[in-house]
Amino acid sequence: MKDNQLHLYFHSSLDDPDLWCTALTRLLGPLKFSASPLCSEPETVDVALLWTTPPQGLGAFSQLRAVLSLGAGINQLDLSSLAQGVPLARLVDDSLTGTMVEYARATVMRYHRALHRHEQDTRERRWHFRPPVPAGQRCIGILGLGQLGLAIAKALAADGFRVLGWSNSAKTLAGLESFSGEQGLTDLAGQVDILINVLPLTPATRGILDRTLFARFGRPVQLINMGRGEHLVETDLLAALNAGWVEAATLDVTCIEPLPEQSLLWGHPDILITPHVAGLSCPDSAAACVAQNIRLALQGRPLINQVDFTKGY
Ligand code: GLV
Repeated sequence: MKDNQLHLYFHSSLDDPDLWCTALTRLLGPLKFSASPLCSEPETVDVALLWTTPPQGLGAFSQLRAVLSLGAGINQLDLSSLAQGVPLARLVDDSLTGTMVEYARATVMRYHRALHRHEQDTRERRWHFRPPVPAGQRCIGILGLGQLGLAIAKALAADGFRVLGWSNSAKTLAGLESFSGEQGLTDLAGQVDILINVLPLTPATRGILDRTLFARFGRPVQLINMGRGEHLVETDLLAALNAGWVEAATLDVTCIEPLPEQSLLWGHPDILITPHVAGLSCPDSAAACVAQNIRLALQGRPLINQVDFTKGY
């Protein structure tokens, strides 16, 4: 901090720096806000607000008090050059959660009402009557029951679906059948029609959406990956679509982003790709939480949604 003015460094290809600067200045008062990819005075930066790590890495940011992710996840950040002891926080706020819930409901409804099949019928000029199935007869599984997973579970339960959830530790929640552990995952997989992934990416969850899981499905399942690309073994998905274990898939995240043009995922008739758009926080709403975390960081106090590096989220 130079001349007692907070220096905030911002780096994101998705979020608008001007909107964030205005929203944070309103809450924190005048501040130095740097947003160019190459930060000219990294050693004076107090807090970094990042979607991804800037090309220069974080090594030169020698006075950092905190790194605040602009996303609910942190795996898009390369933290290899971050000094030990600098706290990191995830960003979960109502606007981000709200957009994730919308995306989950929209993609679930598309499958529930067979719109993906009607889209193909339309392209092939086919009048095919596909009768609606009552929502209560459709079973939705959610992998990950953190703030996002729970909000999605509640919204889908309110839409009338049967909702099963799987998480690291068992949870008791009204309107939700909760599973945990390896056996729990097998039990859930055997019952679901649509499976949504919103797990955090950790060594234990990397590649969880794989051939072993797909082979446990009791019927052809529609898969929605809103977590991270590395949760999914992409070649296993292609094989599972061919084998009929997976009926269709929606991928908002892929192992390499942007997805390379030559990827076989593009153009597969049963895969819908969206470019990591499921959730985005709106500065007008999320700045309050970021401002609070900046205040906490300057006081050396624990942050809201601070990442536990031993757990990885
Ligand atoms: C989006 O992927 C996020 O981490 O918020």
